[in-house]
Amino acid sequence: TDILIINGPNLNLLGTRQPEIYGYDTLDSIAAMLNQRAAEHGLTLAFFQSNHEGAIIDRIHQARGTTRGIIINPAAYTHTSVAILDALNTYEGKVVEVHLSNVHKRESFRHHSYVSLRADGVIAGLGVTGYRLALDYLHQAFSG
Ligand code: DQA
Repeated sequence: TDILIINGPNLNLLGTRQPEIYGYDTLDSIAAMLNQRAAEHGLTLAFFQSNHEGAIIDRIHQARGTTRGIIINPAAYTHTSVAILDALNTYEGKVVEVHLSNVHKRESFRHHSYVSLRADGVIAGLGVTGYRLALDYLHQAFSG
């Protein structure tokens, strides 16, 4: 696998969860869109969603040495998890942090991200397009 796409807590409910904030696309429809784009780039993707911090950390460990990049929407763990930051700091590939909503336009507790201390780049507020742009960036970074 070239790129691992990690989605954190509550993102399994995309499509029905506060659609006025997060949109009507489901995680499956996002995966289908990204697989199509990845095929155009000649890249392979793996997808992982969990509501559990430790499970996300275990999956990041598995990605060490086996993938070239991670696209991660850590959801609420963005703002709380030193442990996910530490796990990403053991990862040698590229990391792009994605948020569907513009976290800077929302409550102040969403303005700080531990994961941003490690991320090569951050995309927020562009909805599902953010995942696609992250994929396009990694394609360019890998071929450059
Ligand atoms: C989110 C923003 C987070 O603050 C929130 O806890 C989420 C989703 C986003 O994609 O906009 O669950 O990461």
